[in-house]
Amino acid sequence: MIELKELTKKYDEKIAVNSLSLTINEGEVTVIIGPSGCGKTTTLRMINRLIDPTEGSILVDGKDVRETNVESLRRNMGYVIQNVGLFPHMTVAANISTVPKLLNWPNEDCEKRVTELLELIGLKPEEYRNKYPGQLSGGEAQRIGVARALAANPPILLMDEPFGAVDPLNREVLQAEFLKIQKQLKKTVVFVTHDLDEAIRMGDRILVMKDGDVVQYDSPEEILSSPADKFVRDFVGTNRALKRLSRFPISDSFHKASTVQEEAMSDCSTIRALEQSEFLWVVDSSGVLKGWIQTDDCEAGKSISEIMTVAPWEELGINRNSSLREALSRMLAQEVQTLPVVEGHGLLIGEISLSEIQNRSGRG
Ligand SMILES: Nc1ncnc2c1ncn2[C@@H]1O[C@H](COP(=O)(O)OP(=O)(O)OP(=O)(O)O)[C@@H](O)[C@H]1O
Ligand SMILES: [Mg+2]
Repeated sequence: MIELKELTKKYDEKIAVNSLSLTINEGEVTVIIGPSGCGKTTTLRMINRLIDPTEGSILVDGKDVRETNVESLRRNMGYVIQNVGLFPHMTVAANISTVPKLLNWPNEDCEKRVTELLELIGLKPEEYRNKYPGQLSGGEAQRIGVARALAANPPILLMDEPFGAVDPLNREVLQAEFLKIQKQLKKTVVFVTHDLDEAIRMGDRILVMKDGDVVQYDSPEEILSSPADKFVRDFVGTNRALKRLSRFPISDSFHKASTVQEEAMSDCSTIRALEQSEFLWVVDSSGVLKGWIQTDDCEAGKSISEIMTVAPWEELGINRNSSLREALSRMLAQEVQTLPVVEGHGLLIGEISLSEIQNRSGRG
């Protein structure tokens, strides 16, 4: 647990953070959100003592951070810097093992940890370990930044706009991946963003800041349903019901889908007689989504491949880790009411329908 007690940071006369008191729960993601210059980075940097507060104190597990040795404090806190901040002249492997090396881990252990972490963040170790940051896409660099922060397995993670520099689509993917990792690792995370959707999706609790002050500290549900004042209300904006959907992963709501194997039948008239649904997903022999057929098109003498609408899973499928909000926007964009749900490399595991999303959003 991290406690901030009446924490203030002044730069000359400018108050960057104003008497901030806050309890950050263990194993949770606490999001700090607010407009540019409201004091988010300053707060984060005070927690790991990159800067000293003008007044007030910070306790980690009951102990004042000023009484803790700075090195051991930072060893307990992985830090993902705003704008990635990888060392450009060092390989991915060297970047990730920065802290383990400082801790004098044997080379072998460092290498092992690099492999483990690259796998965790979904990048092939053999392909990426020897690359330089300049050879990475924005999203890949962000992931390496997260891997580096996780390297020495710290219980606390401080993340300053970790996905700020990537486009919205990739950002969704990174968010989903991080949530998956967090479910497993249960770190105490302080996560800074100025994107409300990201805050709603990632946060167990959200701190809204303005000009160095706390405006509201609540669960995402409370922030959406009872904004503390006009500032938060404006920040939250309209479409609150839609925003709530960002919190729910598809994996909690989808159902099993009717499928047929692409090569299974040379004559598909039996499908029409037996099948209740209007359409069926078509998969290959390993269960990978290939397209769909309309049951009405199933006629004697016709094979599945003759009547099927071919659509690669990358286009048609939605990942089980995506949010209901993403599913909804895809449905609206593609003018469909059902989407196939996939995992890994296109394995079909079910489908999600508009009515399921509506049910979820109405349930409070
Ligand atoms: N070293 C410094 N000297 C003087 N003023 C500073 C210094 N660092 C930050 N500030 C001021 O303190 C305030 C808070 O800065 P901070 O970096 O915490 O904002 P932020 O919320 O992280 O903003 P952003 O979303 O743009 O990253 C700003 O007004 C900034 O200009
Ligand atoms: Mg900042």
